[in-house]
Amino acid sequence: MSSDDLKRQAALEAAKLIEPGMRLGLGTGSTAKHLVDALGAMVADGLKVVCVPTSEGTRKQAESLGIPLTTLDETPELDLTIDGADEFDPSLRLIKGGGGALVREKIVAVASARMVVITDVSKEVPVLGRFPLPVEVNPFGLESTRRQILKVLNAAGHDCPVVLRRTPTGGVYVTDGGHYILDCPLGQIADPEALSMALFRVPGVVEHGLFLGLAKAVIVADDTGLRIIGNPA
Ligand code: A5P
Repeated sequence: MSSDDLKRQAALEAAKLIEPGMRLGLGTGSTAKHLVDALGAMVADGLKVVCVPTSEGTRKQAESLGIPLTTLDETPELDLTIDGADEFDPSLRLIKGGGGALVREKIVAVASARMVVITDVSKEVPVLGRFPLPVEVNPFGLESTRRQILKVLNAAGHDCPVVLRRTPTGGVYVTDGGHYILDCPLGQIADPEALSMALFRVPGVVEHGLFLGLAKAVIVADDTGLRIIGNPA
């Protein structure tokens, strides 16, 4: 089965958690896209839900499928968010933000009673850090902020570059919130909680891609079937 087929399997399993009347957070990325497609079909069949998208991309997809949308201002508390991840560890800690939507993804996840993650097995790691950690920063003072982040990483024992994310055509990647992203290939993160706090102490850091204590469950698809880690109910 292809990686995309596995992502679809995980998404279809997560769609079973959706109940009439729910307030949903809709994730971003190629895995979440399958979930939104499945939800679109459920809505076409008469399911009543309201949803908050975590990116402009997901908003456009949901709108095209006729999925009713709301905002966190109108609907500040959600029942369930289903989203992908770039990595997860045995404690269900995540790295997210490969698709650049980390700020909205974290705000929506925190506003939800439950966050359930959908992935193929390639995202499973014993220790977080194989995927470069995205850190979203204010464009003002970019180079100073980059150097401060480098100091934080060095102090935590990481000797790695801090790389400004670019678009495929070479321009600077700009997030939905108008910020930049610095990608940090850390290798292994010994203490994600400590690193999280240290990064937040750098002025200019808007958010980072460590999602700690947010996922209630991960639905993982591999060639042998589905595995559910944690409790999605
Ligand atoms: C978006 O910013 C990310 O957090 C995605 O959820 C994550 O990158 C997973 O993406 P895929 O589902 O495309 O692998």
